[in-house]
Amino acid sequence: MEEKRILVVYFSGSGVTRQLGQAIAKTLGCPSEEIVPVGKPSSDAKQLEIQPLKNDPSQFDVVILGTPVWGMRPSPPAQVFLMRHAGRLPALAFFCSFGLFGGGSTVKELTRLAGKSPIADLAVQRTRVQRGQYQDKLKQFIDKIG
Ligand SMILES: Cc1cc2nc3c(=O)[nH]c(=O)nc-3n(C[C@H](O)[C@H](O)[C@H](O)COP(=O)(O)O)c2cc1C
Repeated sequence: MEEKRILVVYFSGSGVTRQLGQAIAKTLGCPSEEIVPVGKPSSDAKQLEIQPLKNDPSQFDVVILGTPVWGMRPSPPAQVFLMRHAGRLPALAFFCSFGLFGGGSTVKELTRLAGKSPIADLAVQRTRVQRGQYQDKLKQFIDKIG
């Protein structure tokens, strides 16, 4: 069987979600790309623009989308990515990093915005990302995708 074409796409405000996204891409040996907001990332998602991506997500078999948890929800740049691409996206997986709470509600909101359930999801607390203490969870996540 041909290898799945997988793309990791993430927004990261302070680097934690980026670290997680890059670890996922490295493990899968796939490209990754950062969502870059035009203006303040904290703007209302309805007003916010993001820069066009270098890769076309519709050309992949799986898109893995990552975001920090902001106010128990996905960050506005990740919301905008889904709003722009919904309907043309392949199978999806979601990951997020958070300080204390909100991984579950963030995955739920990403699912609602995408209009379909992810094939895998991963939520890791910031301190665990920073200490590299997420390998078991990462393996379970990757196993569902690969
Ligand atoms: C505006 C803002 C809102 C946040 N809201 C939450 C929250 O509701 N729950 C939580 O656990 N962490 C919250 N955090 C913490 C981030 O989710 C956490 O630090 C995350 O790992 C940051 O990822 P990043 O470095 O990729 O931006 C918030 C951070 C910011 C800046």
